[in-house]
Amino acid sequence: MPQTPLAVAEAIISTFQTLPTIPVAAARAIQILNEPEPDLSEVADIILADQVIAARVIRIINSPLYRLLHEIESVKQALVYLGPQKIFEIILTSCFLELTDNRQQGLRLQSCWEHSFGVGLVARSLAELSGVARPEVAYVAGILHDIGEVILSQQRPEQFRQALVLAGEQELDLFDAETQVFGTSHSELGALLAQQWHFPDQLVQVILHHHDKEIEQQPSLIQVVYLADHICVDVRLKCDMDQSLREDAAGVYGANLHELEHQLQRLGVKNLAAFRQALSQMIEKVKETVQSIYA
Ligand SMILES: [Fe+2]
Ligand SMILES: [Fe+2]
Repeated sequence: MPQTPLAVAEAIISTFQTLPTIPVAAARAIQILNEPEPDLSEVADIILADQVIAARVIRIINSPLYRLLHEIESVKQALVYLGPQKIFEIILTSCFLELTDNRQQGLRLQSCWEHSFGVGLVARSLAELSGVARPEVAYVAGILHDIGEVILSQQRPEQFRQALVLAGEQELDLFDAETQVFGTSHSELGALLAQQWHFPDQLVQVILHHHDKEIEQQPSLIQVVYLADHICVDVRLKCDMDQSLREDAAGVYGANLHELEHQLQRLGVKNLAAFRQALSQMIEKVKETVQSIYA
């Protein structure tokens, strides 16, 4: 009997020499934030006790993404200013950077970060404009949706490259090319890892289902990330193999965006003009942010 994509992903993960991990303190903080009534002072203590996380958190807080009126110097100060939801976002963003910060790989890391931050910001905006999902959850789900892709490219660089070439030659989605090459994809692999890292179940579900063919059957949060993903690819915020394959963004609007707008309307985004206007600002912000973090 052929193995399911999830079983294949599990088998691949079991052969990893070192399992990608997130810092223990971050995992604990996420676990607490996942509880029905999280104890936020405990979260603050956990972050403050880990200097590496504390330093990364400060860096993200001071990046253009969270641009504040003045620089924040301590995590405690940040907790007061930003509140628990933003701290949750920032911890998960710092985990994402931690897991993906490996510059020896087939994918161009900078473009992957642009794609992830782009999907995060666009998903948040769609959640706000439609009211169908919580904006901060949509943002985090957008940042993390392709985590399996980066890890697959780090752990299986040669096969991953084959998938990239296949996708290019046959004009396939990378998801379909991966399925042909590996018998599984970054969705299954990422979801299994996210489960091991104790990420909230709704994030695990987004990672697992963001390429499902019948997306309308999925919960709203998954549809929001799905649309944000397609919008970002359309405006060329996408993960690339290398610089030479990259086309310059000719304008904010790509070929498929008008078609995607019907789906946005169906989701409940009424003010498309506001979204269009926000989109060009988001693209700018993503580029600035990635440059400031990547440097
Ligand atoms: Fe994906
Ligand atoms: Fe994606």
